[in-house]
Amino acid sequence: MEDKEAYPDCLGLLPKLEKEQAKKGWISEQALKRISKETGIPISRVYGVATFYAHLHTEKQGKYIIEICNSPSCYLNSSLNLIKFIEKELKIKSGQTTKNGKFSIHICSCIGCCDKAPAMMINKKVYGNLTEEKVKKILKKCR
Ligand code: FES
Repeated sequence: MEDKEAYPDCLGLLPKLEKEQAKKGWISEQALKRISKETGIPISRVYGVATFYAHLHTEKQGKYIIEICNSPSCYLNSSLNLIKFIEKELKIKSGQTTKNGKFSIHICSCIGCCDKAPAMMINKKVYGNLTEEKVKKILKKCR
């Protein structure tokens, strides 16, 4: 209640951040400052919300954003091995973007496709029942 009075538009902050991210796939420092100014919410709080949610990115992302699930169903179906495989294929670690700006990798929570574990999304398109061979083919199509 106290925060709501201090920051009246705070409840609408997440949709604003999501809308901003939808434009370029990430939220720049400039955009965070603009949102802070528009809403009257301190930049520290705007930044705090933007970095709290795993689906929001405050750094420039690759053309293809790979979000690979590591929640229980996927984990039990070797998602960790797939994550290591993708990192090796792209020569980056999770949370990083390739030098050519083509791929970013993020480990995420359940994407609702547990029956197709292990699963991942690339730019919101879901891929399931993954194997290293399947991933290799999917990445090849993106290259
Ligand atoms: S646990 Fe991976 S999609 Fe649900």
